Amino acid sequence: MEHSVQPSKHLSSRRSFLRKGLAVGAAGTLGAGLLATGVPAFAQSGGLTPGDAAILRFLAALETLETDFWQQYNELGGVQDSEVPGGSGSAPYTAALAVLDSDMAQYIHDNTEDEFTHFTFINAYLVSKGAAPANLDQFRTLPSSKATGAQKIKRLTNLMQLTVDTSFWTKYRSRTQNPDFGDTFPPAVPGLLQGQFPAIPRSDKDLSPPDHIQAIANTAGFHFAFIEQGGTSVYPSLAQRVTDPEVLRILLSIGPTETMHFQTWQDKAGNAPPLTDPTNGLVFPNLNAPPFDGEDFNTNLIMPEPTIFLSRTFPVCSIIRPTETEGAAMGALKALTDDGLFIGQSKAFFTFMQDLAAAADAARPGG
Ligand SMILES: [Fe+2]
Ligand SMILES: [Fe+2]
Repeated sequence: MEHSVQPSKHLSSRRSFLRKGLAVGAAGTLGAGLLATGVPAFAQSGGLTPGDAAILRFLAALETLETDFWQQYNELGGVQDSEVPGGSGSAPYTAALAVLDSDMAQYIHDNTEDEFTHFTFINAYLVSKGAAPANLDQFRTLPSSKATGAQKIKRLTNLMQLTVDTSFWTKYRSRTQNPDFGDTFPPAVPGLLQGQFPAIPRSDKDLSPPDHIQAIANTAGFHFAFIEQGGTSVYPSLAQRVTDPEVLRILLSIGPTETMHFQTWQDKAGNAPPLTDPTNGLVFPNLNAPPFDGEDFNTNLIMPEPTIFLSRTFPVCSIIRPTETEGAAMGALKALTDDGLFIGQSKAFFTFMQDLAAAADAARPGG
């Protein structure tokens, strides 16, 4: 069994990939510890190049984290069924979400199921190639919501202290700026950057007064779009680093589903009613009235505006942004960390995720 870390020894042909993958298939179950060659099992790449394995493993970890918080949303505000089991719903929270769209519960359910299939597929693919999958089970340590309807189990992520960056809103509405050129964008909901807010009821005490539970649902509505615009960028960013056409196909096939999620959610977020949460002063502004009116904020401008791409000398183009590949994995991890999703997580968790991100960012096409 070969576990070379020399990029030059990987590759040759797809047929060789497949043969090697089959030959080392059982190694995917080795788990922690060192392999005979001294390569940490953590970094084991089997029949994939180390770079391809690292990118897939980081994405599998991200998708596992996404699944964990989407499940929390589904338990309280989605549709609990055999496709997405767990929880029994919170009627007041579900009703507040339905103010954004009467089909919100179904969309939450479907997004949750999609994330589950993303990490399950990528991990199964890694194992089929003899590469180590991403397994975050040891980090399921965070508490559940105490609200009626949530499962009382340990979680990977925290939806109760979010600081949501809603600059994605203006980023996709700008005609002259692009984050890949170093541009920054104002948030649609400035208040969400100025504190820590729940996106699910923390307990049944959060179910009233009405403007409080509506503010929690509004926070969720903008958080959904924040998360999925991140996925919309991370797949094309990392796709530029893969080697095997089949791995590229995986990234190119999953990535656009994140974009479908984002497009749905930013449309729904635009329906969040303007209000002030009486318990903490969080303001959701009217994005169609002064001072927010205009092209950068209007709620019906949900198609990406054309903007600068690659060079200002080219004509503007309607694109996903950012798609810069340098540091993309670490950037994605930082965005989720700044979002507050990992508040309460252990130092070991951050080290684990940073190692995965650094390995993904170090990947090079052909290596
Ligand atoms: Fe996903
Ligand atoms: Fe997603």
